[in-house]
Amino acid sequence: MPDAATLRPADRPIEFIDLGAQRRRLGRRLDEAILRVVDHGKYIMGPEVAAFENDLAAFCGAKHVLSCANGTDALGLALMAKELKPGQAVLVPSFTFAATAEVVAWFDAVPVFVDVREDSFNMEPASLEAGIATAKRLGLAPVGIIPVDLFGLPAEYDEILPIAAAHGLWVICDAAQSFGAVYKGRKVGTIGDLTTTSFFPAKPLGCYGDGGAVLVDDVDVAVVLKSLRVHGQGSDKYDNVRIGMNARLDTIQAAILSEKLTVFGDEIEARNRVAARYSALLEELVSVPSIPAGLTSVWAQYTVRLSGGQDRDRVAAQLKAAGVPTAIYYAKPLHRQSAYCDYPASGNGLPVSDRLASEVLSLPMHPYLDEASQDYIVAALRSALRV
Ligand SMILES: Cc1ncc(COP(=O)(O)O)c(C=O)c1O
Repeated sequence: MPDAATLRPADRPIEFIDLGAQRRRLGRRLDEAILRVVDHGKYIMGPEVAAFENDLAAFCGAKHVLSCANGTDALGLALMAKELKPGQAVLVPSFTFAATAEVVAWFDAVPVFVDVREDSFNMEPASLEAGIATAKRLGLAPVGIIPVDLFGLPAEYDEILPIAAAHGLWVICDAAQSFGAVYKGRKVGTIGDLTTTSFFPAKPLGCYGDGGAVLVDDVDVAVVLKSLRVHGQGSDKYDNVRIGMNARLDTIQAAILSEKLTVFGDEIEARNRVAARYSALLEELVSVPSIPAGLTSVWAQYTVRLSGGQDRDRVAAQLKAAGVPTAIYYAKPLHRQSAYCDYPASGNGLPVSDRLASEVLSLPMHPYLDEASQDYIVAALRSALRV
């Protein structure tokens, strides 16, 4: 492997997520899809919305798809459908994006933080059991679990679902980062009671603004979700049968998403090629992500771990100076955030979440990362680690 200094950066700057490359590939098809909506003028709940929901259901096998305004509202709608009540407890991982816990707090319910695994960064089943016991000890009634498929890899559902069943808890899968992944033959979207996802632009399937969806097999829940999405509407627009919200997906975003979905399978394969190549080139330098047998990841992030002696901040600064953008997801686990630190944490603390927060570093990852850029990134990381 040549030294970073001997390699020339690619013609274009290296992007952390290169949405421009995807745009160059899809080209006029996206422009035309947007213009079709602008021309027909049905900006709210136009025909592209139902068409996209059908496309998404066909892609993942969920029986019902309800598109919505963003991944946070998707979680909120799912919790409304589950009729979450003040004082009830919901088990969530601490090592995740804030929205996973935030929505629980919206209902004056209590997020109980659970630790994650060293190998997958996903919810640790033993800590989940301990978290349920912690909630009960505090006099809270645990009602549900929100596992997160972090960085695109499904959580350990073979262990989580039986724990949920044994305690009578529902499971809402937060698949904001993992839509398109597979867990032991089951596509994300078909695993828990409900699944939520996000189409934030940087997500593996992203739109040109905010977007999200709830996926569910139970038709009765789907009917309730549909009502909740538009102010709890009943038989018509001005009939309100429950308290809901305004959480519709814009028609333009639905049109964009249907176009992007046509290349999404191909992009997932490309992401996996990029990830496999990273791992082969980096495994002797840093701790690389591992994918358990039977699972696939959509690589929302490619995240390595640096050991304490490898000085992450200096390495990230050196990469930045070499033109390689990196990111830290997540520098502070939720149980350490000032908005959430007063909520309970499972057992005697969350040591793995704490450790990961100081070790993780995400590298540029997208389906259009070419080998020359990847070689440059690897060489720059090698050089930064040598100092
Ligand atoms: C794990 C997780 N949950 C929920 C969300 C919320 O999605 P959105 O930004 O679309 O509201 C995100 C988005 O970053 C996420 O990563």
